[in-house]
Amino acid sequence: MKNIVILISGGGSNMAAIVNTAKRDNWASRFEARVAAVISNKPESKGLLFAAEQDIPTEVVNHKSFASREEFDEALAKVIDRFEQPGAPVLLVLAGFMRILTPGFVGRYAGRFLNIHPSLLPAFPGLHTHQRALDAGCKVAGVTVHQVTVELDHGPILAQAVVPVLPGDTAELLAARVLAQEHLIYPRAIAELLRKQ
Ligand code: GRF
Repeated sequence: MKNIVILISGGGSNMAAIVNTAKRDNWASRFEARVAAVISNKPESKGLLFAAEQDIPTEVVNHKSFASREEFDEALAKVIDRFEQPGAPVLLVLAGFMRILTPGFVGRYAGRFLNIHPSLLPAFPGLHTHQRALDAGCKVAGVTVHQVTVELDHGPILAQAVVPVLPGDTAELLAARVLAQEHLIYPRAIAELLRKQ
C-alpha cells in the first residue's frame, strides 16, 4: 500500500477534497494508495478534526517548539517517515502548509513531493496571490499543482486551472473561486501521478 501523507496548517479543505476523492474513487483498490496521515504544524488546525473523524491518524509537529527551521524539519521528517512502507516511499502532499522547508527536507522527498499554490505559476509565487493578481489587473487567475523543489512555489507543473477575474472582485471573492478549482485539480493530479507509478 502506498501511503500519502498530507501536511496542513489550517482549514484543510484541500486535504478534505483529497480524502473524499480517495474514498469516492476507491484509490485503495485502483492504485493501492491511501491517505495514511494528516500532519499539522498548528495544534488548532481545523483540518485535524476532519481527518480524525475520517479515522485518519493525525499528528501535530508544532514549529513553535523548535529553536530552528532545521530542527523542526528533522522532527517533521521523523513523523512522516513513520508512515513509510517497505518498497513504497511516502507521497508527501502540501495542502495549505504555511512553512518554508529547508533544502535538506525538500531533497529527502524529491520526486514524491507535491504542493498546490493559488496562482498561475510562475506568476505570483509567495503570499497574497489574489490581491497581487487584482493589483496587476489580471483578467484571469488560477491555481497550480507542482512538484516541490528547493525554490519556493517553483518546480515542474503538474496541473493548472484558470478562473476569470470578474468586475468588482475582491481578494476574498477571487480566492473562493480559485479554491473551488483547487478542490478539483489537486485530487485529479494526485490520481494521475498514482496511475503512472
Ligand atoms: C489554499 O488556497 C492553498 O492553495 C493555499 O492555502 C489555501 C489552503 O486552504 N496554499 P485549505 O487549508 O486547503 O482550506
